[in-house]
Amino acid sequence: MCGIIGYIGKKQAYPILIKGLKRLEYRGYDSAGVALMDGSTRVYKIKGKVTDLENFVAGRDISGTIGMGHTRWATHGEPNDVNAHPHVSSNGHFIVIHNGIIENYSVLKEMLINHGYHFESETDTEVLANFIEYIYLNGDFSPEVAVRMALQKVSGAYALVVMHRDDTKYLIAARKGSPLVIGVGDNEYFLASDATPIVEHTKSVIYLNDNDVAILSTNELKLKTLYNDELIPDIQEIDLKIGEIEKSGYDHFMLKEIFEQPYTLINTLRGRISPDMQEITLGGISSVVPRIVNARRLLIIACGTSWHAGLVGEYLFEDLARLPVEVEYASEFRYRNPVIYQDDVVIAISQSGETADTLAAVKLAREAGALVIGICNVVGSSIARETDAGIYLYAGPEIGVASTKAFTSQVTALAFLALMIAHKRETITNELYHSLIRELIEIPRKLEKTLTAHDEIKKLANIFRFANNFLYLGRGYLFPVALEGALKLKEISYIHAEGYPAAEMKHGPIALIDDKMPVVVIATKDKTYDKITSNIMEVKARKGTVFAIVTEGDTIIKNMADYVIEIPETVEYFSPILAVVPLQLLSYYIAVLRGCNVDQPRNLAKSVTVE
Ligand code: G6P
Repeated sequence: MCGIIGYIGKKQAYPILIKGLKRLEYRGYDSAGVALMDGSTRVYKIKGKVTDLENFVAGRDISGTIGMGHTRWATHGEPNDVNAHPHVSSNGHFIVIHNGIIENYSVLKEMLINHGYHFESETDTEVLANFIEYIYLNGDFSPEVAVRMALQKVSGAYALVVMHRDDTKYLIAARKGSPLVIGVGDNEYFLASDATPIVEHTKSVIYLNDNDVAILSTNELKLKTLYNDELIPDIQEIDLKIGEIEKSGYDHFMLKEIFEQPYTLINTLRGRISPDMQEITLGGISSVVPRIVNARRLLIIACGTSWHAGLVGEYLFEDLARLPVEVEYASEFRYRNPVIYQDDVVIAISQSGETADTLAAVKLAREAGALVIGICNVVGSSIARETDAGIYLYAGPEIGVASTKAFTSQVTALAFLALMIAHKRETITNELYHSLIRELIEIPRKLEKTLTAHDEIKKLANIFRFANNFLYLGRGYLFPVALEGALKLKEISYIHAEGYPAAEMKHGPIALIDDKMPVVVIATKDKTYDKITSNIMEVKARKGTVFAIVTEGDTIIKNMADYVIEIPETVEYFSPILAVVPLQLLSYYIAVLRGCNVDQPRNLAKSVTVE
């Protein structure tokens, strides 16, 4: 959701900015731009991707040891050259890049128009640039004071970097609601929406908090609050390797991330099961375990794929730990005036740890006095920092916009937690507890085996590539997998797909089934197996084409379905972790065959930091 990069130091900024923007492009790719400063300032921006910007800039003056860049995911105003960032204030004093939404921009815009300001773009960011300039020109303020005063009057979310035309020796950065990280080098500083563009330059980073303002010059960093209170920067060392943020020979990040899953699951499991396989230890939540054990109910809050993982969590916690669970879309929960009890436990699931709605829901739940636990992948992310306790996934950076490895790690983390709480609540026997721990350890190996079906799935993708609609059906633990399979297909191939509980099909979707409708049925052996075989018969009776995901050795469904993919046998509690993998691959191969940009699907962004 817009990527921001900045550099100040002794090197030429442009190559650093371009490389950084390419790393951040998963956040948005509607338009891109840079501003460079070297005595004078230059701004280049254009609709399209970072490569379009490079072509546009070719042959122009790109000198400058101070610079900032932006890759946009449009909110206010369509993607075009004028709406692209950076935005320059009317009199040219300030240049701004911004990620977030200035909610009171229309009031500010009207006020500025009344004072003679003109606007070129439709963006809220241009309003902010002009508002800063208006304050600067109408008082005896330094650029930094003007920025802080403007931000005190702004509502909404922002991560921004500001350059001042005449004070060409520093950058001003600020954050509220949208992420911003500073990289601390040797007489140089980097700014970015996340650490991925920084890590090849330095491992020392500072995560800005809400209302922090940083003033960066080549050899000095001043950190203060919006209200001018000095802060001591908390420099942290990050453990992120370059290989983790590159494609490493794969055609797309998504494919790399699908194939990484056996290893990412091992990382999620690592150090959390005792060597004798008798106990689960989750260090990040150890101090709050009694509150979870005695919770009145669990509220699981998330968006997108993380919400689907939350649905699996509901089955796990109710089934194993006998705790009532509600799974909520963060965006609905936060505006619904929800009932939250002090003895509720809220679990916020977020790969990025930055999703604006999930973050707002976390704050709401904490204000209500509930215990809030985060299940996040990105270490040091906002949700990880705003929650009372948490579980990291350790799945490594997920760059493909369509989430894959985060989902399987999220379900694994939820399985851990549910098992541990069930054991403490004595709702499962010791025998079951220990046998499920042993099975969980087997899952990465079984996932590796699941991946060996990739060639077969590629062939099926070729058969289904021209379909206009898909139906995905599952029951019980596999219903959330049906939702996730349909979401994956929609996201990257733009084929309309719906996920449904298989029995519910009779209340509507069955009307859609004809000989052109592929129906993907996730029908591994569990307690609803007999029921789902009947559902398959119902589809076949209406001439639907059935593609079924079945348990290895299944013969019954093999005889009914048109196509099957086998996956290794496991207990139903963990079946979503394996069953989702063929669906990830199916959507990937269909999207590639349809010529879609898998890693940068239209209109989507990896990290949704605006509501
Ligand atoms: C976006 C991404 C999805 C992701 C969702 C929630 O829509 O494209 O892949 O599932 O946000 O993101 P989070 O980082 O909170 O899990």
